[in-house]
Amino acid sequence: MSDPVSIGDATSAEKASAHENWGSRIGLILAMAGNAVGLGNFLRFPRQAAVNGGGSFMITYFVALLLLGIPLMWIEWGLGRHGGHYRKGHIPGMFAAVWRHPLAKYLGVLGMVIPFLVLVYYTYISSWTMAFSFYSLFKDYWGRETQELMISYLQSFQGFGAERVHHPITPFVFFTITLAINVWVVSRGISGGIERLAKVGMPTLFLFAIVLAVAVMLQEPVPGGGSPLEGLEFIYRPDLSGLTDASVWLASAGQIFFTLSVGMGTLQAYASYLSKRDDIALNGVATAATNETAEVVLAGPIAIPAAVTFFGVSGAMAIAQSGSFNLGFATMPVVFQQMPLGNVLGFMWFALLFFAGITSAVAMFTPVSAFFREEFGLRRETVAWGIGAVAFLMGLAHIAWLKYGFLDEWDYWAGTFGLVAFAVVEVILFVWVFRPENMWRELHEGADIRIPKIFKFIMTFVTPAYLLFILVWWGVTDALPILRMEKAAGGGQLTPEMEPYVLLSRGFILFFFLVALILIRVAWKRNGYDDRKGFPVVDVSGQQGGTR
Ligand code: PHE
Repeated sequence: MSDPVSIGDATSAEKASAHENWGSRIGLILAMAGNAVGLGNFLRFPRQAAVNGGGSFMITYFVALLLLGIPLMWIEWGLGRHGGHYRKGHIPGMFAAVWRHPLAKYLGVLGMVIPFLVLVYYTYISSWTMAFSFYSLFKDYWGRETQELMISYLQSFQGFGAERVHHPITPFVFFTITLAINVWVVSRGISGGIERLAKVGMPTLFLFAIVLAVAVMLQEPVPGGGSPLEGLEFIYRPDLSGLTDASVWLASAGQIFFTLSVGMGTLQAYASYLSKRDDIALNGVATAATNETAEVVLAGPIAIPAAVTFFGVSGAMAIAQSGSFNLGFATMPVVFQQMPLGNVLGFMWFALLFFAGITSAVAMFTPVSAFFREEFGLRRETVAWGIGAVAFLMGLAHIAWLKYGFLDEWDYWAGTFGLVAFAVVEVILFVWVFRPENMWRELHEGADIRIPKIFKFIMTFVTPAYLLFILVWWGVTDALPILRMEKAAGGGQLTPEMEPYVLLSRGFILFFFLVALILIRVAWKRNGYDDRKGFPVVDVSGQQGGTR
């Protein structure tokens, strides 16, 4: 295949400098898809679809995909590659490259802190999937054939509840291993680490997902359960009844954000390793399409239909309501115990989640690691292990205080509300401040397709309006009550014993923002950047630039 990506394995000169490239176009696509396809596809999607009315949710979901997801995908690839032109793989630099104003870099703090915060708890949740793939293979939970017994098993692992199944150190051990693997991959670099991981992880993940989807669809319902097709119908049969409910619209927009990895900083960071000769228009939609295939075509027929065969449609809905992870970590194991070769299927399910998780987690490292490498000249390994060490310490807090809502705070402020806030800023900068004409030209440089003109209009007006609407609505209905502690970030009531942990959790968020702001200031001073002049161009159409 002729290969239009600015390629070539990293030379030793590149290894020494902060500059890196993708190795091949297929590697780039797999890495980008690895970034997008994650726990969000296989765990978050089925739950969101189930609790938000199935067929209604899917309609609003596709609207959000067209008006928010795909436009933001292009915007982020464009912003990222444009930043890469000045060898800026981090958001403060990318913002400063499109808006020559002293404020721009500080706004970019969102794109450093958010991915770091999400990285910590996302890695922790990924570590459960590693643990559960072992437990499945060795039939550790076999004999727990009811939903309640499995939930109790999961809770014991999470440090909740009365039961104690494993030693309390267990979750710490799995977290440490998972994080160490992440760090190791990141320390090997863009093409040597992340791209290689994606080339192995993504095909494996798809293969396992296909096997599971087929196995579930062939499953005979147990007495009291329904047929797997009823589960599929529940999601896929269009239903207009929920369309008047704002919460369905908001939930689907939130899912689009999370699943496509937009509003975070990671897609931009990946795109910064491209040159102006490389296509982003086609690659951007290809990434979105791969993610949607994994989510709608492959994840759709797994968790919900599996739950339906055992508990019927209403039973499955009740399970989804009962907790974010019950469908994936309690219901699925109950189902596997009844299936032939259930331990192998269970292993495959959790291993697929693990691969989905790790190929996303390495992306969350990238913006922060680019910042330290490019602005402070630090070595890749040093940066990877350094960020890893801070993530490790914070991870310990998450494990110990999960039950007090510590993680839910980060998930809400960074992983939900923060994504939209970041996207609003980014769209305003890349579309309005940079000008729609420049944005449109940037997206078409090196492009293999022409984006339908209507998207220029959508990106200029519809996407920003949609985003602002979500931000304001969420601000009023969720963010304020959560901030005032009138409700818990994870939903439900906030108990008095949770309060100190919630405050502590927020204290850490503020602390990381403060540190990042200071670091940005120091970086700009140290490198003598002039906010009004912009950066020197270092990407000479795909060749390595001379200076940093
Ligand atoms: N898209 C990933 C998922 O579906 C999560 C993610 C968000 C990854 C943002 C990277 C950046 O799980």
